Amino acid sequence: MADRDAFDTANRIAAGDVGRNYDDVAVGLHWATAILVVIQFLLGVTWDYFPEATTREMQGLHISLGVALTAVIIARIVWRLMPGHQRPAIVSAWVKLASKSVHYLLYVLLVIQAGLGFAWRWAQGHAVSFFGLFASPGPYGKLERPTRHLIAESHQYIAWAIVIIALGHALAALYHHYKLHDRVLGRMLPAAR
Ligand code: HEM
Ligand code: HEM
Repeated sequence: MADRDAFDTANRIAAGDVGRNYDDVAVGLHWATAILVVIQFLLGVTWDYFPEATTREMQGLHISLGVALTAVIIARIVWRLMPGHQRPAIVSAWVKLASKSVHYLLYVLLVIQAGLGFAWRWAQGHAVSFFGLFASPGPYGKLERPTRHLIAESHQYIAWAIVIIALGHALAALYHHYKLHDRVLGRMLPAAR
């Protein structure tokens, strides 16, 4: 086991990893994003099976959590762009390219999805409300049916795309942890610090 650890450490250092983890803010924002995305998806694909009053409550919750998720995504991107908050990859060149592409794709889809969420609510002629604390009526009123339909379809497809890509991303992280025995998952976990 000691041999294995020494080998892992040597490998890690050779790959340019200096042993630093993602900082607490980055880790907190990552897991907040992951949890909120899963809740958002589960709400959206199940609310049709509930009585109408419950459906409406679930939709209201989806909007409020959507506002929270939007804030988390913005905070994550701003934090990431600030100097000193990126982490070097600890994998080989092509894996680095693949994993970075997946991360950027997730960020792009999350931003578009949040924008579509607001756009859809406003297109229905409703305000985007955050747990009743404040509400934004939006820059336009109720839109024509074809436009609403387009926004709705895009929001639905992107929801599935995000969830499928995030699932692949999570499986990759677990593969690193259980098969490759490196620190890719560990440095994104609060327990590791
Ligand atoms: C990654 C995050 C999100 C996911 C996975 C997601 C997923 C979904 C899903 C699956 C639906 C149901 C579509 C259908 O009716 O078939 C939905 C509807 C909706 N979502 Fe999202 N959503 C996300 C973020 C947001 C955000 C940030 C907002 C805005 C604040 C938002 C606003 C809406 C609205 C207004 C609806 C339509 C509700 C209705 O039918 O009245 N979503 N979403
Ligand atoms: C909906 C769920 C998820 C989303 C949207 C998501 C999104 C992201 C994004 C955008 C990054 C890039 C971070 C950065 O460098 O700025 C990232 C990193 C990471 N995620 Fe996730 N993630 C999700 C779920 C998960 C799950 C379930 C796991 C673990 C099983 C996980 C493990 C990781 C790890 C280990 C990293 C760091 C990768 C590296 O150091 O190269 N993620 N995630």
